[in-house]
Amino acid sequence: MRLVRWACVALVVLSGCEKKPGAAGPGADAGGAQAQALSLSPLEETSAGEAEAALVAAGAQAMEKFECNRCHDGAGLEAAPVDQHCVHCHQEIEAGTYDAKPELLEKWRAQIVHLKNVPTLEATDARFKRSWIEGFLREPHDVRPGIGAMMPRLQMSEEEAGAIAALLVPGEWGDGEVTGGDAERGAHVMGQMGCGTCHGYGAERIPESPVPVALAEGELERGKALAPDLRHTRARFRPRALVRWLEDPKAVKPDTAMPGIKLTEQQARDVSAYLLEKDLGPAPVYAVPDRLPVLERRVRYSEVEEKVFKKVCWHCHQEPALVGGDGGPGNTGGFGFAGRGLSLSSYVAVNSGMRDAEGARMSVFKKREDGTPHIVAAMHARWSEVAGRPIEGVRGMPLGLPPMTLEEIQLVETWVSQGRPR
Ligand code: HEC
Ligand code: HEC
Ligand code: HEC
Ligand code: HEC
Repeated sequence: MRLVRWACVALVVLSGCEKKPGAAGPGADAGGAQAQALSLSPLEETSAGEAEAALVAAGAQAMEKFECNRCHDGAGLEAAPVDQHCVHCHQEIEAGTYDAKPELLEKWRAQIVHLKNVPTLEATDARFKRSWIEGFLREPHDVRPGIGAMMPRLQMSEEEAGAIAALLVPGEWGDGEVTGGDAERGAHVMGQMGCGTCHGYGAERIPESPVPVALAEGELERGKALAPDLRHTRARFRPRALVRWLEDPKAVKPDTAMPGIKLTEQQARDVSAYLLEKDLGPAPVYAVPDRLPVLERRVRYSEVEEKVFKKVCWHCHQEPALVGGDGGPGNTGGFGFAGRGLSLSSYVAVNSGMRDAEGARMSVFKKREDGTPHIVAAMHARWSEVAGRPIEGVRGMPLGLPPMTLEEIQLVETWVSQGRPR
């Protein structure tokens, strides 16, 4: 990972300079807030600056530890090599530029669903509240209904999350309030300007209308995939940055997948008023479905392998000998996890188990207190995580991806209950 950019950030923070690198938009009012934050005696000023610089440096270290650069571009991250990069490799296969035989590319392309579209971390400081990033890293939730993948639940301490947030948003700028907007007019603007083509607002639909600007090939599809549910925006976005975003999104974040629809200042204030003030209603409550009863019919390993382990799990729980020593984050480690030594790539491997939290070998079929085999509990726990209720002592699988269907979980549970026939 390239550290030069971090050093710059640290220096800027130390020197108290009001120009932040990478912030495309908010320079003007950010400076004011900075001056306010630094109205301390020269001595205090230096130590506050040093503390902030130390935090930013710790954030850079944490980003390296958690390998954020295997999924995200931007924020000065140097991309992981393509054979380690969950998103770049999938994208190259999709585009047909990955170095492999055409028949293979064709076959793979049909199988890859996830981690093709992930938001870049460019210009986070020009958009987000530091506090939101910190909370989100500790307890990720679904922001973009158009992509199945979510930000994975990593093993991150409060300090690490705070340091990363400080790096992505150096300085908690007092961003002020948005005035002079009318929420009702804002709703009307959204219905007229194509916003509903890509965005939703919780359970509420924004009326669909044609996008009023010309779109490049693939832009609509990518935009739909990456468009956030605007119900979360008031928690995430700095209020005044929102007006700027709506006036010209590409001026705030040049690589954004949102088309360059430019609202007038008044329209932007009206839409901002809607997004910041409109009654959110109660938060949606997600039910966690019960597991299905085990099947009557015989289930053999080959079926479980084909429909579950090699369809999804294997991509993070591989056989290290086959892939140059890297068995994936769930086996030899990655994303800050030490690795649980769990390969899900063959009958023998699955049956040889994994390491528990203390590093001792355990069977993945070991029953938990309620009698559920650990591996089944891990798959079902993903449903609870997506519903915002993580389960103590077991991480939901597949990590950061949509839960396995109840039928897929049932298949594994049936196979385990039948004594795991080959
Ligand atoms: C396995 C891939 C993966 C890894 C590793 C990963 N992320 Fe993410 N991250 C995602 C996905 C997917 C989303 C989009 C989730 C959504 O919108 O619901 C996301 C969203 C985010 C967002 C919100 C951005 C936005 O515009 O909404 C931030 C901030 C973020 N990640 C930071 C990080 C940091 C920092 C790290 C390293 C500590 C990291 N991510 C590691 C996949 C990943
Ligand atoms: C060297 C290229 C490459 C890299 C790197 C890579 N993948 Fe994949 N991935 C593939 C191919 C090829 C397929 C489809 C073929 C298959 O099913 O074996 C695939 C399929 C998948 C699937 C199953 C289909 C789907 O979309 O749900 C998942 C899950 C997955 N990858 C996750 C990951 C994760 C997580 C990482 C990063 C830790 C990663 N991949 C890194 C090439 C790659
Ligand atoms: C083609 C799809 C598309 C259309 C049409 C579109 N957007 Fe977006 N919008 C996006 C995408 C993609 C992002 C995420 C940008 C990023 O992360 O780079 C976004 C981001 C946003 C955000 C920031 C939300 C957040 O929480 O980060 C707001 C606010 C927003 N759009 C409002 C609008 C409004 C209002 C309209 C209509 C005037 C509109 N968008 C039209 C795709 C679209
Ligand atoms: C995106 C990568 C990824 C995918 C896909 C994935 N895993 Fe994992 N898995 C991990 C990581 C990382 C860990 C280590 C987590 C930890 O140490 O807390 C892990 C741990 C586990 C554990 C131990 C969990 C615990 O808390 O004790 C089980 C069981 C498991 N995985 C099963 C599966 C199964 C079954 C699938 C497919 C349905 C799957 N994994 C798919 C990355 C993944």
